Amino acid sequence: MRFPSHRRILLIILVCLILFGYQLVQWLPLLNSDQTITNDETGTKTHKILVWHWPFGNSFNLDGDYCKDKFGVPNCIMMDNQSRLSEADIVIFHNRELIHGQQRLPVNLKRPEKQRWVWMTMESPENNGDLKPFNGYFNWTMTYHQDADIYSPYGFMVPKESETYEPLESFIPKDKFYLACWVVSSVSPHLERTTIYKKLKTVIPIKVFGRAVFKSLHDQALLHTMSRCYFYLAFENSVSRDYITEKLWRNAYMSGAVPVVFGPYREEYEAVAQTDSFIHVNDFDTVEELGKFLMTLAYEDRERYASYFNWRRKYTVEIKHWVELACKFCPKISSMPPHKVYEDLDAWP
Ligand SMILES: *[C@@H]1O[C@H](CO)[C@@H](O)[C@H](O)[C@H]1NC(C)=O
Ligand SMILES: *[C@@H]1O[C@H](CO)[C@@H](O)[C@H](O)[C@H]1NC(C)=O
Repeated sequence: MRFPSHRRILLIILVCLILFGYQLVQWLPLLNSDQTITNDETGTKTHKILVWHWPFGNSFNLDGDYCKDKFGVPNCIMMDNQSRLSEADIVIFHNRELIHGQQRLPVNLKRPEKQRWVWMTMESPENNGDLKPFNGYFNWTMTYHQDADIYSPYGFMVPKESETYEPLESFIPKDKFYLACWVVSSVSPHLERTTIYKKLKTVIPIKVFGRAVFKSLHDQALLHTMSRCYFYLAFENSVSRDYITEKLWRNAYMSGAVPVVFGPYREEYEAVAQTDSFIHVNDFDTVEELGKFLMTLAYEDRERYASYFNWRRKYTVEIKHWVELACKFCPKISSMPPHKVYEDLDAWP
């Protein structure tokens, strides 16, 4: 049987339409999900970070597009309104207020499946209190620890765009006056650093500044005073992995006093700071030897003293507030492992 030709053409068109429609229906959802994946890959998905409570109550005004306006990070909303918990992709909890009971985890509220809770601390494990009640709640850590999910060290050494060849003397602050300086809040006898200090001061003069002398550790006067010291004793209050604080980054490096460090192993310092930028207490068998070495450098071997400024030709030191680091972490959120829970916070990195 033969169809008249115009009917045949109609039939072909009909079959084509049906096939095309079928394809379209199949491809539509795929097109859609492709779109979402592309967004994630280029980091254009907007992430929301909720600061549950401000560390030490020091709040920031987050008005406007904070991360973009301040640090040039788009698609990242930083907020501190607890009522917006359900919107947040990540929620940051500062440890101190939790362990002191001033703030609580919102465990009674519904927690979105994909929301990550971040445990933040800048203290060493010794000063973090009892963490057992908080096991099993957090997905990420935000600490100075090199393995932290959100790495937030007290400072960074950053390569300069190009190396400079200025004479080393130009990096050494003028009018050095004190041999060794120390800024300390408490000379608690139980701290190991106190033992070292007591021995060292029998070998060399040490100028001690109580913390109260300066309005705060961010006081410009502190840097100015420390710049007059050949050496700064960057002794940490406890010795634990990667715990290297503003004593090194700010008080020593930023002032231009050569740091004498006491804290984690030399290798851990070297992982974040140039090898020849500091003197480690452990480099010496005895405190007497350390003291004699410092005196030699300051008063006899200027060239060797200057060699501790060599890194400044290639690097600068930067100190970044944790809020900035949180903003800058935003684009990385999409590429983080999908699932993680800290069942034992005491074993944190
Ligand atoms: C906090 O968020 C809630 C819900 O979005 C809103 O009603 C409230 O006005 C906000 N509070 C402040 C202080 O912005
Ligand atoms: C975050 O941790 C909680 C445990 O409190 C867990 O139920 C949830 O699946 C984790 N989420 C992710 C995305 O890892």
